[in-house]
Amino acid sequence: MLTTAAYAADKPLDATGHWSVTARGNAPLPPMGWNSWNAFNSDVDETKLMAAAQALVDTGLARLGYRYVDIDDGWWLRRRTTDNRLMIRTANFPSARTVDEAGSFRPLTNRLHAMGLKAGIYSDIGRNSCGQAYTSQFANQPEGTVAEREVGLYGHIEQDIALFLGEWNFDLVKVDGCGIRAMSAENPLVASGRYRELRPLIDYETLPNNDVATVRVLYQQVADAMHRTRPANDYVFSLCLWGAADVRSWAGKVGNMSRTSEDISPNWERMLHNLDAASRRELYAHPNSWNDADMLFVGSGEFDMDHMVEARSHMTLWAMLNSPLIIGFDMRKATPALVSVLGNPHVVALNQDKAGNQAVLAYDGETVQIFVKTLADGTKAVALFNRSGSPVDVKLTAAHLKYRVDRSIALTDLWDGGRSSFQGETPVHLDRHQTLLFKAVGVREHPQGLYLSEQPGSVNPAVDGIVHPMADPLVHRGLLPWRSTRGDGEHPLYGGWGGARADATPFAQTPKMAGKTYPSSIGILANSRLEIRNNGFATFSALAGVDDATADLAAQVRFSVHVDGKRMFQSAWMKRGQQPVPIKVPIKGARIVELVAEGDHPVMQDIPVNWAMAALDW
Ligand code: GLA
Repeated sequence: MLTTAAYAADKPLDATGHWSVTARGNAPLPPMGWNSWNAFNSDVDETKLMAAAQALVDTGLARLGYRYVDIDDGWWLRRRTTDNRLMIRTANFPSARTVDEAGSFRPLTNRLHAMGLKAGIYSDIGRNSCGQAYTSQFANQPEGTVAEREVGLYGHIEQDIALFLGEWNFDLVKVDGCGIRAMSAENPLVASGRYRELRPLIDYETLPNNDVATVRVLYQQVADAMHRTRPANDYVFSLCLWGAADVRSWAGKVGNMSRTSEDISPNWERMLHNLDAASRRELYAHPNSWNDADMLFVGSGEFDMDHMVEARSHMTLWAMLNSPLIIGFDMRKATPALVSVLGNPHVVALNQDKAGNQAVLAYDGETVQIFVKTLADGTKAVALFNRSGSPVDVKLTAAHLKYRVDRSIALTDLWDGGRSSFQGETPVHLDRHQTLLFKAVGVREHPQGLYLSEQPGSVNPAVDGIVHPMADPLVHRGLLPWRSTRGDGEHPLYGGWGGARADATPFAQTPKMAGKTYPSSIGILANSRLEIRNNGFATFSALAGVDDATADLAAQVRFSVHVDGKRMFQSAWMKRGQQPVPIKVPIKGARIVELVAEGDHPVMQDIPVNWAMAALDW
């Protein structure tokens, strides 16, 4: 088995002069739309789908950007073994009926396109689907022999992708991963002969068991097939690996959106879980490749219209995270109140802001979190989020916003339009589960440019120094409704602990060097390379050094800055406790700046370093 460490061998620290986030596919902004799964699970049909599409148009949500109408699990009947063509469950999709029994979705995608919408479809990277693996009691499972029920992409990538994006003309394909996770010989469904064995490449609970390299190769094959079918790049590749297989470290190079966690459910605890898996991944979301915190449950369960506070929180947080906004509600039942939450133009505009900066955690607590998102015009949006079940009084400060303490800061409440202003700090009352969301305009602390931590959408940890993926312990582990307290609880699951962070160290501490803390920083591990897109700036500056949290006093790190592939600065070897080295490099006219922190040993798992106060200046 190829381990991640083996894979890391072909991720050199050498500067490339290249922005490595995929240029294929088309998602300059987080995709928005509707998907059948949260509303209907696999019980999807044409009537329900077209009703959702019509509602998106009639309510004005389509005009706001909700354009993708995605069919999830449940559309397929079988794979025809004579020519391996996938057959549609035409009993549920009458417009797909053709002379050939296999059917065609082309009439359906034509109708959606004529309505000004886009169309999405669902598959699995293995031989079998998630429904077959986990929810076989749900409707519309594939039928027939073992071979006919192998509806996934495994062994059919080229043919199926050509069918989805070519012949059927879909605009988005979501590719799930249950077929490479669940079909071990021990699975009773396999042992009984119902499905063929496929050695699991993903072990959700045990990170070192994941065959990261092979999983990545499979998804890359899909990406390549998509590009061959649609060289104009007018499609979206949606990865659904739920944060497994170290997908954090490679999704940006392969697809346009990537799930960060297991499935959301319509309850508060699960929303926290999905939020947490994405909220500390701010440097792993970029234009054309976004963190997908999963589909919205606004309208259902603990986010229904009797829970307006919770519904708004869920919507606000997904918008601030730049998560794709994919509605998961039966739109035939949508009330004006629901539409007003999903369709708040100010909130949607944050998600669709063209700078593509995921919000950064300015304050990170179990009870309260403060998220700040720098917008394309240099102003900020700030969300103050009460995770807890009790009201709480907190403070919003100028420092959270990186605005000057001695100047007035104007706030506009993006939910109720209320205006106020403050200087220095202001008290804020949050009801239980409430999120207050403001547009904040003030005088920037760093007016001559932008800190890197204010532009995470332009900072890409191409190599983040993680050798052995470790589970992120900061993800909320709630009471799973289907499990209650049976067993010993849910454990940390998602690799990524130690990943690069804005305004924090990789292990969620305050950046600190030689005894001094730094409020603005990019924290990353040694043996890393960051790519930065230069959007018209003239100078790069930073204070680079080894973080005081480093336990290994002997470890040495050397910092270098490369401009369009050419080395322009290199520090001496540095150790913990030393003063950071000041760096100033001209970058005028350059496209890419790369920041390399090279360790004196090729395997260093726990040496956090800081590019403190790192900024691009005009
Ligand atoms: C997985 C995915 C969900 C949904 C179901 C369909 O659980 O994570 O989003 O697509 O499969 O079976």
